[in-house]
Amino acid sequence: MTPAKRRGVFIAIEGPDGAGKSTQAAMLAERIEREARLRVVRVREPGGTPTGERVREVLLDPKLAAMCPWTELLLYMASRAQLVEEVIRPALAAGHAVVSDRFLLSSVVYQGYAGAIGPRPVLTLARAAFKDCLPDLTVVVDVPAAEGLSRSSRRRRGARGGKADRVEAKGLAYAEKVRAGFLDAAKRRLAGRSVILDGRAPAGEVAEDIWHEVRRVL
Ligand code: TMP
Repeated sequence: MTPAKRRGVFIAIEGPDGAGKSTQAAMLAERIEREARLRVVRVREPGGTPTGERVREVLLDPKLAAMCPWTELLLYMASRAQLVEEVIRPALAAGHAVVSDRFLLSSVVYQGYAGAIGPRPVLTLARAAFKDCLPDLTVVVDVPAAEGLSRSSRRRRGARGGKADRVEAKGLAYAEKVRAGFLDAAKRRLAGRSVILDGRAPAGEVAEDIWHEVRRVL
C-alpha cells in the first residue's frame, strides 16, 4: 500500500528545558486554529501515544541514571516512530496542522551532541524510520542554559514536589552542551528548515515572533 499523500503542515517547537516550549506550542496551536482555520493536532515527545507514554516513563525515570546515550536514542526513536505512524502521518494526510512539542532535533541535540553519539547516526535512524515525515518548520526557542535550568526547577518545585527528572538531574555542564547543540544544529538545518528565536522575552512577544515565522509555511 502506498502511504497517504501528505497535505497538512507540520511544525515542531524545540529548545532546552525551561525555554517555555509547551506554553508556546499551546499558544501557536490556538492561533493556527483561529487565524488559519485549520484543525490542529498537538503532540508531545517523548510520548503522545499509549506506547510512547510508556516509553516516556522509562526515559524520564530518575532511578535509571545509568542509561547510556544509545539506549536513550533508540527509546526516543521508538516513541517517535509510533507517534509518526499512529498520529502525525494520518493527521497530515487529513490536511490538519500538527504542532509537536519536541521532535527529531531534540534527539540530534541531546543524544547526538550532548550524548556524544554525533548527529549523523541520529539522522540515519530517522531516515530509515520516517524519512518522509519531517517538520515543515522547526522553531528553536532559545534561552541561556542557566536560565532554562532555573525556570524548570521553579516549575518542578510547583508541580513535582521538587524532584528533578533523569534529564534535568544532569546539571549545568550538560545544559550548556544542549543549548550550544540546538544553536549549531538549527543553523546547519540538520533536521530540516529551522529558525532560532530569543525565548527570554515575555511569552506574548515570543509567540508573535513564532507566528511571524509559521505563517510563511501555512
Ligand atoms: P520535556 O517534557 O521537557 O519535553 O522533557 C523531555 C526530556 O527528554 C527533555 O529533557 C529532553 C529529553 N529529550 C531527549 O533527550 N531526546 C529526545 O529526542 C527528546 C524528544 C527529548
